[in-house]
Amino acid sequence: MNLSVNGVPHNIESAPLTSLLDVLREELQITSAKAGCEQGGCGACTVLIDGEPQRSCLTPVVAVEGAEITTVEGLGTPNDLAPVQQAFTHHYAAQCGFCTSGMMLAAHAYVEHGGTEDREAIQDALGGHVCRCTGYVKIIDAVAAVARGDSFDATLTAAGTRMTNLGGVA
Ligand code: FES
Ligand code: FES
Repeated sequence: MNLSVNGVPHNIESAPLTSLLDVLREELQITSAKAGCEQGGCGACTVLIDGEPQRSCLTPVVAVEGAEITTVEGLGTPNDLAPVQQAFTHHYAAQCGFCTSGMMLAAHAYVEHGGTEDREAIQDALGGHVCRCTGYVKIIDAVAAVARGDSFDATLTAAGTRMTNLGGVA
């Protein structure tokens, strides 16, 4: 099976019914998508499949052969963060980071599809995503900032704290 992840083609050796989540994490060592509930309920495993947010824990890899998979690593790089990554950093929207990859990808898709800064609309778009740190207000602040087209120094949080470590949990 062939799979394109973040624009890079891969020849997949896992069995066809292996979840996309396991293929990403175990075979390709791309660990941003997280194994939370593994039942479709938390959103931590979300990736973009041809630009649409989908649960990778519920997706057999054979079902996405030929599709373009985007993980958060494909949005930007540490030196060239995508707007949603800048906004999450600036608004301090990540705490432990477990939900952050899925939240960012859903937020990215929301804005790409014309989503506005309306907080209820953002809540709806992120409704299937659970943040166990309960940082929802700052997450919505960050998504609204991207929808508005805000620009800012991503090395500073909205509270003025300088970011020194942009790493997350694996
Ligand atoms: S791990 Fe896939 S939805 Fe929770
Ligand atoms: S930042 Fe910890 S789960 Fe959301």
